[in-house]
Amino acid sequence: VLRVAEGSDLRARAERLDRDDPLAAVRERFVLPPGVYLDGNSLGLLPRAVAARVAQVVRSEWGEGLIGSWNTAGWFALPLRVGDRIARLVGAPPGSVVAGDSTSVQLFNTLVAAARLRPGRSALVTDVANFPTDGYVAGSVARLLGLDLVLVDPSQPLDLDRVLDRHLAVLTLSHVDYRTGVLHDMTAVTAAAHAAGGVVVWDLAHSAGALPVDLLGADADFAVGCTYKYLNGGPGAPAFGFVHPRWADVAEPPLTGWLGHATPFALEPEYRPAAGAARLRVGTPPVLSMAALDAALDVWDGIDLADVRAKSLALTDLFVEAVQERLAPLRVQPVVPREHARRGSQVCLRHLDAYPVVQALIDRGVVGDFREPDLMRFGFTPLTLRHADVLSAVDVLEDVLRTQAWRHPRFAQRSPVT
Ligand SMILES: Cc1ncc(COP(=O)(O)O)c(C=O)c1O
Repeated sequence: VLRVAEGSDLRARAERLDRDDPLAAVRERFVLPPGVYLDGNSLGLLPRAVAARVAQVVRSEWGEGLIGSWNTAGWFALPLRVGDRIARLVGAPPGSVVAGDSTSVQLFNTLVAAARLRPGRSALVTDVANFPTDGYVAGSVARLLGLDLVLVDPSQPLDLDRVLDRHLAVLTLSHVDYRTGVLHDMTAVTAAAHAAGGVVVWDLAHSAGALPVDLLGADADFAVGCTYKYLNGGPGAPAFGFVHPRWADVAEPPLTGWLGHATPFALEPEYRPAAGAARLRVGTPPVLSMAALDAALDVWDGIDLADVRAKSLALTDLFVEAVQERLAPLRVQPVVPREHARRGSQVCLRHLDAYPVVQALIDRGVVGDFREPDLMRFGFTPLTLRHADVLSAVDVLEDVLRTQAWRHPRFAQRSPVT
């Protein structure tokens, strides 16, 4: 009886939040899947306008315009034009963001460029629990440049303080941790690294489009991010790189591809970097993916990121409270910072059998993902989710756990992508 009463309180709250939601109509800009999709932090939903735009680029710009479309359809300018649209969402000035390549490639390019700004310093510092690509790329950059790779746990302030010294060349962190959902204080961490004389490269994979990011306000030196999560650019969508204007004409990215050249079509034998962030360009951009991303970014027209943040926190609060009230006896532990200021837009639940439970949920239309070793990860995309959806997901989770439906052997089979 008690459980029903509590549940109905949450339901009344969800109804009220949905009724008053300033973003309620935005979900109509997307192709909405059945069930409850809580994996927009891995692959965002398809915005409705994308298919027609890509078809038009294929049929008309490619099919008819052919090579001339590099000029007439503006293909050549796409990386900077799309970069400017992303810039607005991450607090970067126009001309400081370039779209293209993958996050991993952007990270390599910016990490080396950042380290080259600090010759004579020996430490490349990153988070011991950072996303694997960040750790792997940082390790390779350290080996390439003869730096010491230093791994810290940035959720322990003392740990970070310990390495912010005269050896620091570059600090690189994910703004939001892909597992714990911890949101770092970009301004404070950047200031501390600067005070030690280092430069900072931020990975915005889990914050761009999920919450307000203020790269310029935080005085960030470099940043990278992907666009297939909260920016809905589609599978394998181009990533982006940001360079602060103070470095834009000084930085020396190592990937000296011809499209980062000052005059690519002069075809000069010597490399001369383009002015500004254009030097983060490498080779020929993937025009079709770039067009899909460009169309996807239209959904942000008129959206206030403060509304996005408020809704994200309301969604994650509701989820955590419902899980705590209803699932605690079922040995499910939320993994999420309690304080809003430390929280991204996702919540993980710890459970010994997380993998099969996630598969059983997906089978019932509640899509999350599994992250090693024991986490069920759920992303909350404020543009497309309703508060009522959050409670529906908890209903299904409760049923899967109570009935032990997840024990069916087919849910234990591992797929290559989890
Ligand atoms: C923090 C972070 N960085 C990078 C990536 C992926 O890099 P890439 O776009 O090169 O596959 C992810 C993927 O989820 C991520 O979570």
